[in-house]
Amino acid sequence: MPETVKLVYQGKTYELPVVEGTMGERAIDIGALRSSTGLITFDPGYVSTGSCKSRITFLDGERGVLYYRGIPIEQLAEKSNFIETAFLLIYGRLPEKAEMDYFNYHVIHHSMVHESIKKFYDGFPNNSHPMAVCSSVIGSLATFYQDQLSVRDEREIEIAIHRLMAKLPTIAAYSYKKSIGQPFPYPDNTMGYTSNFLKMMFSTPCEPYHVEPIAAKALDILLILHADHEQNCSTSTVRLVGSTMCNLYASISAGIYALWGPLHGGANQSVIEMLQTIYDDGGNVQKYMDKAKDPNDSFRLMGFGHRVYKNFDPRSKIIKKLADEVLLELGVREPLLELALELEEIALKDSYFLEKKLYPNVDFYSGIIYKALNIPVNMFPVMFAMGRLPGWIAQWKEFQEDPEFKLGRPRQIYIGDTRRNYVPMEKRKNQTPERD
Ligand code: CMC
Repeated sequence: MPETVKLVYQGKTYELPVVEGTMGERAIDIGALRSSTGLITFDPGYVSTGSCKSRITFLDGERGVLYYRGIPIEQLAEKSNFIETAFLLIYGRLPEKAEMDYFNYHVIHHSMVHESIKKFYDGFPNNSHPMAVCSSVIGSLATFYQDQLSVRDEREIEIAIHRLMAKLPTIAAYSYKKSIGQPFPYPDNTMGYTSNFLKMMFSTPCEPYHVEPIAAKALDILLILHADHEQNCSTSTVRLVGSTMCNLYASISAGIYALWGPLHGGANQSVIEMLQTIYDDGGNVQKYMDKAKDPNDSFRLMGFGHRVYKNFDPRSKIIKKLADEVLLELGVREPLLELALELEEIALKDSYFLEKKLYPNVDFYSGIIYKALNIPVNMFPVMFAMGRLPGWIAQWKEFQEDPEFKLGRPRQIYIGDTRRNYVPMEKRKNQTPERD
């Protein structure tokens, strides 16, 4: 007998089916709730709402576990690479050799952007935030491939996937080059994904540029760790935009914007800015801990806490170790890392953080590595976007192929004025609504 939940409302009993996932998580299926009872559910922030069934990513926030297509994130960070992980997320399995070669070839060979795209950058102010530039330019790709925007044609979707994966690093690096007034280098298709990105970021036509292998490796691991995180805000945005049957470029452009905010992908930038503020203020960690705990102070310890993880974010453990390795190998001494370690140590012993289950998240240490690689602070959220791209694509594709595909359209509880009449301008002195 399938399990059900009984809802008693106005003397009537309704049976609501329970759906169960492969890892045992359960949900009440309320799809028919409104049509049968007239009720809707109310869940601000969607904290108790499952928006879809998905086979892509599993995370258990209580145990600090994260799997992509069933494979633990720790194994992928150690044994895979970003392009292979992208294939895994998008197509659901690890690629065989020929599939990997095909995917790799196309992700590398679509890296150049149309020459006209470079002119867009002339229109942006030099100090534009690169997230705004990247989202705009990604959205503009839809104008260059107008005859290939189908959301149901497998081949057109495949090409859009190759183009997005290949061009985002180029578009991202150009946003930085524009901000410092340097020429836009062409991608080098003989290089690996992250080496090519670093070369586009930091090379100039005047001298040869050598990519440090540890820098390319660290970036690759960071991209893997950011590649998907089930129904987070930006991914839900990509799905919601995609639910209008809107093309992949537009959906990803919206995802980049959703990621930008400091409560989501912008947190890595905020962490470094926060650490710098504490450092410049004499390194008084306790002062900022007290501010974070003060209910009358809006200050939060950036890089701490997570909507889903109520335990260590498994990504932060890997990144912390990686940060040590990168700083050691590049010979960089980073006072902000020492400050971050001190902050973490105090927070992990503090009853406020323990009781609220606030642990370091993915953003707490990633900025330290980006900083060691000379990536400017306002580019940190862009690095997150480059990593999250295959996750967005995989989630968008899964949804388009879902037999339960449906336009996303939440309801609301209206709490505004009831019906009132239009008041002509000359009578509007008293704004008290004139009611029927
Ligand atoms: N510092 C101090 N207090 C905090 C923090 C923090 N970083 N995070 C949560 N709290 C407190 C909060 O004040 C609240 O206290 P109270 O119950 O007394 O009102 C309680 O913990 C619960 O917070 P919440 O905002 O209701 O929890 P949430 O699940 O909505 O928030 C969060 C999750 C990530 C928005 C939040 O922890 C936060 O603002 N963290 C800092 C920003 C950050 O690091 N964001 C990156 C998230 S990971 C990357 C990603 O997925 O994008």
